[in-house]
Order: sequence, then structure tokens, then C-alpha cells
Amino acid sequence: MDKKDIAQIKKQAENHIRSAKDLKQVEELRVKYLGRKDGEVTNLIKKLPSLGMEERRAMGPALNSLKNELDDFLNEKLSTFNFQLSTNFDVTMPGKKVSVGHLHPLTLVEREIRDIFKAMNFSVVEGPEVESDYYNFDALNIPKNHPARDMWDTFWLRQNESKISAKGRKSEKLLLRTHTSPVQIRYMENNKPPFQIIVPGRVFRYEATDASHEINFYQVEGLMVGKDVNLANFKFVIREFFRRLFKKNLAIRLRPSYFPFVEPGLEVDVECVKCGGKTRLPDGQGCNLCKESGWLEVMGAGMVHPRVFEAAGYNPRDLQGFAFGLGLERIAMIKYNIPDIRLFYSGDLRFIKQF
Ligand code: FA5
Repeated sequence: MDKKDIAQIKKQAENHIRSAKDLKQVEELRVKYLGRKDGEVTNLIKKLPSLGMEERRAMGPALNSLKNELDDFLNEKLSTFNFQLSTNFDVTMPGKKVSVGHLHPLTLVEREIRDIFKAMNFSVVEGPEVESDYYNFDALNIPKNHPARDMWDTFWLRQNESKISAKGRKSEKLLLRTHTSPVQIRYMENNKPPFQIIVPGRVFRYEATDASHEINFYQVEGLMVGKDVNLANFKFVIREFFRRLFKKNLAIRLRPSYFPFVEPGLEVDVECVKCGGKTRLPDGQGCNLCKESGWLEVMGAGMVHPRVFEAAGYNPRDLQGFAFGLGLERIAMIKYNIPDIRLFYSGDLRFIKQF
């Protein structure tokens, strides 16, 4: 082997590469000449150690530069094909539509509710979904074995030691919270009144599902505490809230109800947004949204019970406040006229894409 042979190989290889018609042929030539196992140039380089010192000195650098030159030549040829590839398309063809996601209707309504309350100077607070029975029940004036616990059947967690137990209390049983009310206690334990907060969050109940009940749903809790916060304040805040959410003045009805953590307790109804409280639709048919009652039940509420203040470390003689808990799905169903709560969690794109 001498330099003439090398020049010969170079010429032959360059001719081949020049006439290659596509990417595949260029790659085949790379294997033929520079392939690790059996490339022609590679084999010559492998033979170098068996040559005499003189020959090795002459041929070593020559073979090396042959290898580099062919490599460059191959890459150059490759780039011409790549360029053709990148320019070889019809720029006038319509592009492929990338499908962009959007927010779930419940997220939309939750954000709207947050914004309305923030504008009324409420802070937004959150709490854990895995809760201790102390916060979910006892601190809310629902002691163990009290029949009121039946109102909120839940999922209990196997593990017995609570990592989120209340101050100084050990071995709380853990559960999936049945309402956002436990956050009332958690917040009051660490903050001084006056304050007003809302608590949006996910809650769970062990119950049969139907068109208006899910085992997993969302609530928005509200709590306002001060020296002389009263029910008239509550009525104003809630009327203003509905006015802003539904963009019209809606009549509100407060009915006596029972929740162990408030006294008095109330159920809040708003005038039906579909029939305007008339129970019948303009075509004479009975309103199916309010089931011809003219009212929609949307939340529980009341004045905070003195025992709840005590559990949080407040003196109930100094303070009063109102609390409420509304179901987010119910509000979204009213706002968008959705007939079945289960649609929210069905994952059905035909439903989701309407928002
Ligand atoms: C409560 O959960 C109380 N914590 C509310 C409260 C807070 C009262 C503060 C007083 C003071 P209730 O179980 O009624 O109350 O639920 C409140 C709202 O959650 C209901 O009005 C309803 O809108 C919604 N809700 C209740 N159960 C379900 C369910 N299974 N699926 C969907 N929404 C539900």
C-alpha cells in the first residue's frame, strides 16, 4: 500500500458519494468505506500496526486524513438531501390543527367564585383532603356516636396514627373529609379575627350517586368572623355573590335547618334561574330545573356555634360570625343548565368540549 493507492480509493469513493441518489445510498457508502467492522478505509487503518516503522509513519497520517475527508464529504452530501427534505413541501397546504386543551367547567366556575369573593375582600384558603375525625367532626360539635355523623358518611383510612392531628391530640383516625368545614377550625387555630375567608376544595361522601349526588364533589366554604358580624351581613354577601355570578338580581330564601356547627342553621335557596321563580316555563311546561318549586337549594349556612369557637381557642363571648358551604357542582349545573352531576366526571369529550 502506498499513497497512490490512497489517492485511488479517495477518487473512487468521492465518485460514488457524488452519484448517490438518496439518504439511504449515502449511509450505505458510509458503511462501505468507514464502517467500524468492515469499512475499506477502516480495514487499512487496522492494518497499520503490522507495517514497518517507516511505512507506518508515512501511511498513518495519510489514512487518517482520508478518513476525515470522506467523512466530511459524506456529511456534505447528506446535508443536501436534508435541505431538500426540509424545503420539499407545499407551503400553501393547510397546517395540521393542534388540539389545545381548555379548562374544565368546574374549574371555570370555581375561578369565577374565587374572583367574586376576592373582590369582596375575602381571602382564599385551602386545607387537606385527608382529614382527621377531630377536625371533620369533633371540633365541629359532632362528637363520636352523635347521630349527626350519619349526615356525612365517609371513607375511613386504614392507618390509625394521624400525621395531621390537631394540636396536642394523638391517634386521630384519618378519613376523606366530607365537607370543607374542618378548614374553619384549622384557620381559626392560626389566625385572629376579624377575617373573612372562602375555602374551595374537594370533598368525599360514601353514598349512592344519582343525578344530583356524587361520591366526590367540590364545596366552597365561607367564614366571616368579627365582633358583630350578623345574619344580615351574610344575607348581603350572599345576595351580592349570586347577583355577580348570575349577572342578575335573584331572590334569596333562608329556611331554618340543622347543622351541629351553627346556631341558628339555615338552608339557602335562590330563585330558579330557569323559570325566574314562576315554576312554569314560557311555553307553559313545568320547570324541570327547580322541579316546579321556583327555588334552587344551593348551600347550608348559619351563625358559627359557640362550641366551634371554643374548639378553635376563641372566646365565644367576644365574637360572632357566619359560615356557609355551597356545592360547586350544583352552582355549575344551574349556571350552565346541566341536568346530571355525573357528566362532570364522565370524561366524555362531547360534554367537555361545550365549554
Ligand atoms: C355541609 O356539607 C355543611 N358543611 C355546609 C355548611 C357549612 C353548613 C357551614 C353550615 C355552615 P351539606 O351536606 O348540606 O352541608 O352540603 C352542602 C352542599 O354541598 C349542598 O347544599 C349541596 O350543594 C352539596 N352537596 C352535598 N352532598 C352532595 C353530593 N353527594 N354531591 C354533590 N353535591 C353535594
